[in-house]
Amino acid sequence: MDAIEVIRAKRDRGELSTAQIDWVIDAYTGGAVADEQMSALAMAILLNGMNRREIADWTQAMIRSGERMDWSLLDRPTADKHSTGGVGDKITLPLAPVVAACGAYVPQLSGRGLGHTGGTLDKLESIPGWRASLSNDEMLGVLRAAGAVVCAAGSGLAPADKKLYALRDVTGTVESIPLIASSIMSKKIAEGTGSLVLDVKVGSGAFMKTVPAARELAETMVALGTDAGVRTVALLTAMDRPLGRAVGNALEVEESVEVLSGGGPADVVELTVRLAREMLAAAGVSPGKDPAKALEDGSAMDAWRRMISAQGGDPDAVLPRAAETLTVQAPSSGVLARLDAYAVGLAAWRLGAGRARKEDPVSFGAGIVLHAKPGDLVRDGQPLMTLHADETSRFDRALEALEGAYAVGPAAEEHLPLVIDRVTAP
Ligand code: URA
Repeated sequence: MDAIEVIRAKRDRGELSTAQIDWVIDAYTGGAVADEQMSALAMAILLNGMNRREIADWTQAMIRSGERMDWSLLDRPTADKHSTGGVGDKITLPLAPVVAACGAYVPQLSGRGLGHTGGTLDKLESIPGWRASLSNDEMLGVLRAAGAVVCAAGSGLAPADKKLYALRDVTGTVESIPLIASSIMSKKIAEGTGSLVLDVKVGSGAFMKTVPAARELAETMVALGTDAGVRTVALLTAMDRPLGRAVGNALEVEESVEVLSGGGPADVVELTVRLAREMLAAAGVSPGKDPAKALEDGSAMDAWRRMISAQGGDPDAVLPRAAETLTVQAPSSGVLARLDAYAVGLAAWRLGAGRARKEDPVSFGAGIVLHAKPGDLVRDGQPLMTLHADETSRFDRALEALEGAYAVGPAAEEHLPLVIDRVTAP
């Protein structure tokens, strides 16, 4: 077999055989297929698609490129959640301890942010002492001690995806549903969770801008998980506006701790509880403790403190703060009609909360705190949001990103419901 034959087949809209897919993934991981050949194939897939059988084979081949973790010796079922990424999406932080407090283990391998969406590991790393890199044995130790572990995926897990994702990032081939679905699901299946809830975001701040595109991605991923023996469901949720009121690493940790203390913004609490119920049902933990109760009675907070301490973090430490702030005021009185998620994410990124290249550091204190959400009444001159940055020189570019991103008017513009739909295996 050779790479040119496989590239030509997909270029000419053909269907790749299982043998071709197994060969090309294996040869690419081992270096026999060059980056430029894989880029051409990725572009052909982006343009011409893959059918369900091809996507399943592609996913399985990427899983086989590395190790597959196994939690079957644990005495409780495992459940995980994956979000396709959004602005202010800190849900993993309260969710993992809530689910642990309700009776399932949560083994979550997570990532760092790139572009306008933040990464869970960057948020947790703002807690002094907290360590993202754990060996498999350490992961097991944290799971046993706290019921939940959130850490970086080691290099042994789906190495084919690691290589391919970096290539797609620089060749304009990220936005392909077959490639996104197989990339996410190869890592989640290799992680060894027994059940998985996918939070597929929809709107300007998400990968998927429309409900039909998000539904197609969700259906593809649910089918991949189900076929691999992982009980998988997906929720389509709103990302046309930011989630919660905090966007930025330490700012989002603070908001998560508020939720774990029984407070916090209503949308963050609602989504945490909804996803937790889905995870517990998928894991078969019922009737267990209700997630809303775990937030109220402090048991989720206890699990959070154990989880952070077990990874070297100090749950009582003062979090980093940016040195400078700037307040944006309401331009008139009325209702905050609109607040665009992508613009807020881009502004937070320009303030230093995100990175341009994967080796760049992030500013833990940088970001945005929203004082009003769409639908809230505001008065002329009232603070709408506070920008946080380490240097005042960052404010101008952040303000540019926010131009036209919000409007005050007589009524709120139409927006997506927080939970738009639920997708299960047929
Ligand atoms: N996240 C992933 O892990 N892979 C993709 O392709 C897109 C988002």
